Amino acid sequence: MDLEERFMAALIASERVERWLEAVRTFKRAGAGAGAAPLMRAKHAVRELVAALDSEVYVDEARQAGAVPLLTSLLKHTDDEDLLNDVSDALAACSGLMATSGKTRTFTYGGIPVVLKEGALGDGTGAKVWTSSHTLCREMAAHPDIVAGRRVLEIGSGCGGCGILAAKLGAAEVVLTDYSDAVLRNLRDCMYMNAAGSSAANGAGVAAANGHAAANGSAAAAAAEGEGEEGAAAAAAAAEERRQRLAEAEAWDPEDASECGSDDFDDLLGDALGGSSGSTAEAPGAAGQAAAAAEPSAAPWDVASPPMRVRYYDWQDSFSQLESEERAALLGAPGVPRTAAVAPGASIDTASNDSGAPGLGAEERFDVVIGTDIMYEWQMVLLVPSVIKHRLRPGGRALLCCAVREQVMFDAAVGALAALGLRAGLMQVQPAAADILDIKQEYEGGYVLVAVEKEDKRAQNWHRDDLFAR
Ligand SMILES: C[S@@+](CC[C@H](N)C(=O)[O-])C[C@H]1O[C@@H](n2cnc3c(N)ncnc32)[C@H](O)[C@@H]1O
Repeated sequence: MDLEERFMAALIASERVERWLEAVRTFKRAGAGAGAAPLMRAKHAVRELVAALDSEVYVDEARQAGAVPLLTSLLKHTDDEDLLNDVSDALAACSGLMATSGKTRTFTYGGIPVVLKEGALGDGTGAKVWTSSHTLCREMAAHPDIVAGRRVLEIGSGCGGCGILAAKLGAAEVVLTDYSDAVLRNLRDCMYMNAAGSSAANGAGVAAANGHAAANGSAAAAAAEGEGEEGAAAAAAAAEERRQRLAEAEAWDPEDASECGSDDFDDLLGDALGGSSGSTAEAPGAAGQAAAAAEPSAAPWDVASPPMRVRYYDWQDSFSQLESEERAALLGAPGVPRTAAVAPGASIDTASNDSGAPGLGAEERFDVVIGTDIMYEWQMVLLVPSVIKHRLRPGGRALLCCAVREQVMFDAAVGALAALGLRAGLMQVQPAAADILDIKQEYEGGYVLVAVEKEDKRAQNWHRDDLFAR
């Protein structure tokens, strides 16, 4: 294309983009009670925009026309799933993340949007969001205290839905982990999409509330563990402040970002990423962050708001750390075949870390360990209990949601937990109809929520009294 052609292409693109964005603005101004027509026009416009964003000219024009803050603000103004999904695709295209391919979708749990990009199953089982992930997300959204103010480890994150939601629910920090290259790269993209989204989609106040939760995390956690009146008072104060900040967040509109001079995409994304590596806490280093985000492969593995990290973590590491008596106890647990201790590499997913993700520190311990759909091979019967034993701090809790494909394997895993001094409570759960994937998902034992604590240092104040009833 010569210069004149490029100019003409940009001119046409800018007129079309402006028309589509106007339809979105009209829908937003009209508000909820405006009837079907503005919604239909907005849906049509966003769909056309997404199709056009295949071309760089349109991406440039959309960014310059303020598509990012406008579309981000739309996430708060509609619960129409099709529109939300198209808006997510448009935002991902504007951020450059679509270049890595995959379908980007927005899932909403208790009103909180989580934007996830899925890849092909050839990239590993973690390239998809599984039903168990949605199910645990709904449990956490209904009971935010499971994670609020706590240090959370997600194991076998895949696309990271549960960990990302935990961060948005006010966890002090969330570490998202997996052990395969393609999954880790995608996980990082998902983290970034929600760093931008959480500041923008939920409002800056949520990021601030999360920061606040981090600051008050130990007080809130201490009170939640029943550590005295002072702790309880501190937690009540923290909860009140968090409520106020969430209310502020509700009132905040990403389009207002222009008022503080950050109506351009890079600034907005930079703010959302605020303060992660290479920048100071006060001055998030928006330019550097945005450059990194626009080029996902060069992006760092941490974001500050809400506080999340992606780390390489192979569960085999925790199994290897067991004392020899613990290993013997595991292998002697009822129903655990000795062949369960297979060599690494026998799994349908494989460990590889060419992505360059930093490893999870060997000494890191967590208040809460979460994991979904992580019990589908015999070796996991040994590995998952080893992980919980290693990573849970005394008094901490693990909450898993398992698809029980083979009842004998699941029962052996419960026995393996007990063999390591871990107490498990089981609760059958029925996933929401909308969360059931279109591939065959009728499992022998259905879906089970598994609550785990250390037998000698139990967690206090579980979010449900009936978790240990069985
Ligand atoms: C079925 S997927 C579930 C993904 C996600 N939790 C969900 O529910 O959507 C299982 C995940 O566990 C990871 N995984 C399997 N074995 C692992 C191991 N030994 N160490 C770490 N991650 C592992 C896979 O890479 C994959 O991301």
